[in-house]
Formats: sequence, structure tokens, C-alpha cells
Amino acid sequence: MTDARNEELHRKLREENRELAELNHFKTHLLSLTSHEMKTPLGIIRGYAALLREGHYGDIDPQAKEIIGKIEFAAEDLVNLVDNVINLRKVEEGRMEYEMEDVDFVKLARQAAEELGHMATSKGLDMSFSAPDREIMVRADEQKLRHIIQNFLDNAVKYTRKGYVRAKVIEEERNAVFSVEDSGVGIPHEVIPALFQEFVRDERIRREIRGTGLGLYVARVFAEAHGGRVWVESGGEDKGSAFYLSVPKI
Ligand SMILES: Nc1ncnc2c1ncn2[C@@H]1O[C@H](COP(=O)(O)OP(=O)(O)OP(=O)(O)O)[C@@H](O)[C@H]1O
Ligand SMILES: [Mg+2]
Repeated sequence: MTDARNEELHRKLREENRELAELNHFKTHLLSLTSHEMKTPLGIIRGYAALLREGHYGDIDPQAKEIIGKIEFAAEDLVNLVDNVINLRKVEEGRMEYEMEDVDFVKLARQAAEELGHMATSKGLDMSFSAPDREIMVRADEQKLRHIIQNFLDNAVKYTRKGYVRAKVIEEERNAVFSVEDSGVGIPHEVIPALFQEFVRDERIRREIRGTGLGLYVARVFAEAHGGRVWVESGGEDKGSAFYLSVPKI
């Protein structure tokens, strides 16, 4: 191939790359714009649905109450989706900011487990939490760390029909490790390598259980920003899963 032809190909490639980058930027910008615009009306739907259900506008018959509950759940799902998209855009553009402080990993994990515990027990799952009886300090953005842990717990409850959800903190020589093990639908071996990428979901549950496939991706990005890592182990389909988060101790 001649040098001139080579140079021409390179130029074309650069041009196409630039166009793709622009298109990608436009896509995320549009998504973010619609997301922010959706937050207010969704908040209104959710808020009024709750007030109606709680009887603030008069008595509601049980069947209507159930329907209103469904509206609330659906609005909640959308709020979650919108938050995920907003996070995704910040991450993609490197605009995510981290406010690092000294955080007690045990306390944080315990609080999250207590909060999510209600969801587990109302689903009839056996929920437990165990941790060393002392502080384990890490340098972290508390909100981001809580977000990772909540995501793991939320998934464990969501993808487990019966059995248990066991959350645990262990202290290693250099790291604090949070894990959550469940007796749920498990993860096929071939799905595992891609699981922490954006929009990846297990095909088996796609129809049945709603989700965006963004939670674990954001969890990975947040963990890496702390110099930590996330990973998963599963015995395979219907054999349960265990998700891990490890961050360096101070
Ligand atoms: N505890 C679990 N047991 C079995 N499969 C899981 C578990 N946690 C995650 N998964 C699988 O990993 C996929 C990605 O999880 P992720 O949390 O990123 O997305 P999601 O739960 O589908 O949606 P969302 O973004 O709303 O959290 C899920 O769709 C599911 O297939
Ligand atoms: Mg999830």
C-alpha cells in the first residue's frame, strides 16, 4: 500500500472516530436532559400516589389502594432508572466527583443492611448481617460506598425468590470486604465476565424482573475510584450468588 493511500485511510478513520464521539456525546446529553426533566413529574406522581394511598384525600377502597401501590412502584422504578442514567453520564464524562473522608465501613454496611432488611423480610427471605465488633476505617466518599452496598443488597433481594440473603463484613490485612450471598437465581458462567459492564443483564430474568443493567457497572466504577474492586462468584443457574466489594483500609 502506498504512503498516500495509507494516509488517506488514516484521515478517514480519524474523521469517523470524531463523528462517533460527537454522536455519543449528543446521545448522553439528550438522555441526561430528558432524565432531569423527568425527575420532577415523577416525584409528583410518586408523592401524590403515596398521599392518596395513605388516605389524605379520603377513604380509598382496598382494590384502588392496591392499584395506587402499583403506580407508586412503577414511579419508583423510573426514578431509579433516571438516577442511573444521570450517574452513567457523569461517569462517562469523567464528571463524577468524590468527597473523600474517613468512614467506618462496618457502621455503613450495618446501616445499609438494616434499611434493606425490611425488603428482604417482607419477601419472606431470611436476612442476616455479621461483622467484626469494631470499627474498620476506610478513606471513602460515604455516599458512593453506600450506593455500591445498597445495589448489592437490592439485587440479592430482587433476584432471590426464597431462602436467604447473608451480608457480611470481613477484615483482611489490607482491605475491608463487604459480601452478600444469596440463594437466588444464580448467574450462568458465561454471563459472569461481562456482568459489571453497562446494560448487561441475564437473559433468563430479563422479562420477569425489571432492571436497567446499570447498577453493577456504576458499582464497579465507584469501587475502582476508591482503589478497590468488585467481583462475583456463583455456582451457576439457580445456585445462588455472592457479590464482593473490597476497599483498602486506612
Ligand atoms: N444477586 C444476584 N443474583 C442473580 N443475578 C444477579 C444478581 N445481581 C445481579 N444479577 C444479574 O446481573 C445483572 C446486572 O445487575 P445490575 O444491578 O447491574 O442491573 P439490574 O439489577 O438489572 O438493574 P438496575 O440497574 O436497576 O440495578 C442483573 O440484570 C442480573 O441478571
Ligand atoms: Mg440491580
